[in-house]
Amino acid sequence: MSGTVSSPVYELRDNWGRVARDLRVSLTDRCNLRCSYCMPPEGLDWLPTEETLTTEEVQRLLAIAVNMLGIEKIRFTGGEPLLRKSLQEIVAFAHSLRTSVGTSPNLALTTNALGLDKQAQKLAEAGLNRVNISLDSIQPKTYAHISHRDRLKDVFQGIDAAQKAGLTPIKINAVALRGANENGLNALLRFSLQRGLQLRIIEQMPLGPRETWSRSNMVPEQEILEIFSEQFTLTTASYDPHSPARLWNVAEGEDHPAGQVGIIASVTRPFCTTCDRTRLTADGQMRTCLFGNAETDLRSLLRSGASDEEIARVWQEGMALKKPGHGIDDPSFVQPERYMSEIGG
Ligand code: 5AD
Ligand code: SF4
Repeated sequence: MSGTVSSPVYELRDNWGRVARDLRVSLTDRCNLRCSYCMPPEGLDWLPTEETLTTEEVQRLLAIAVNMLGIEKIRFTGGEPLLRKSLQEIVAFAHSLRTSVGTSPNLALTTNALGLDKQAQKLAEAGLNRVNISLDSIQPKTYAHISHRDRLKDVFQGIDAAQKAGLTPIKINAVALRGANENGLNALLRFSLQRGLQLRIIEQMPLGPRETWSRSNMVPEQEILEIFSEQFTLTTASYDPHSPARLWNVAEGEDHPAGQVGIIASVTRPFCTTCDRTRLTADGQMRTCLFGNAETDLRSLLRSGASDEEIARVWQEGMALKKPGHGIDDPSFVQPERYMSEIGG
């Protein structure tokens, strides 16, 4: 196992000068929903157990990332990370690590919230700081249409439990989908304001079944703003230029308090130039980006007896080659071979 190193031995710096501090770890490719923009309705061939990193292997990579490579934030994703049996154990281990400034890494979870009612308190006790909950609509029919499962009630219970457990701020992620949830975006914002949740609308990216995305049919940031402006008064808010979300202040209304809403315009206003992410898939492949097909095989290194130093070095070499941007708008853009659920959100 890695020793406690007080400053990173290596940094994850790419050839364009960006330094990765944020690690996204997919803990499983499985999911109990089938969101149309993420995977086909019939699901995918899940990874066989032996190809998925074991709990010990995940923990070893987390230790290398924090102790040796300067990672300060860890986000657990999937598939659906709540389906990983050892999630609490992994969170507790990550919480026990110390970054180069001597603090625990900031720990977040991206989840669909199914079953979160049972796990929220235990995850908070294990050291989880906050959750992002995927919720594209608060209308049961629309929710079931998009996710192919009638589970909206479970999501509401999960949100309640996360609030009780103090996993705040809670962000709600909604992908804007033409013809599916556009009409419900205002209801979703009203619900979020009333409940003290931070809503962020995400432009749909080409990461699911190919027929579900086209540049001309996606709902762009400008249109999302127009939809909100029909019912809310928005003014620009200051926001962290490194954060992908552009924030808007929402004035108080008759049936809701004042608050904020964010828009993540991944397609029309890419944030690649300030991207500080590095990713691990559930089968131990390091990716520099959601897009592209380049992966660095860390699982083979783990399973062939490589030292922490060797693994850190290979991770660093892989990150150096990170592309400057995703190039979705480029005519030569090719959608990645893996779907979102196989990469990690
Ligand atoms: N485009 C944009 N966001 C997506 N997500 C999944 N697939 C896509 C896509 N094609 C986001 C969802 C979810 C998280 C896991 O990833 O909002 O919150
Ligand atoms: Fe599951 Fe998340 Fe994909 Fe929906 S977006 S199918 S909740 S992994």
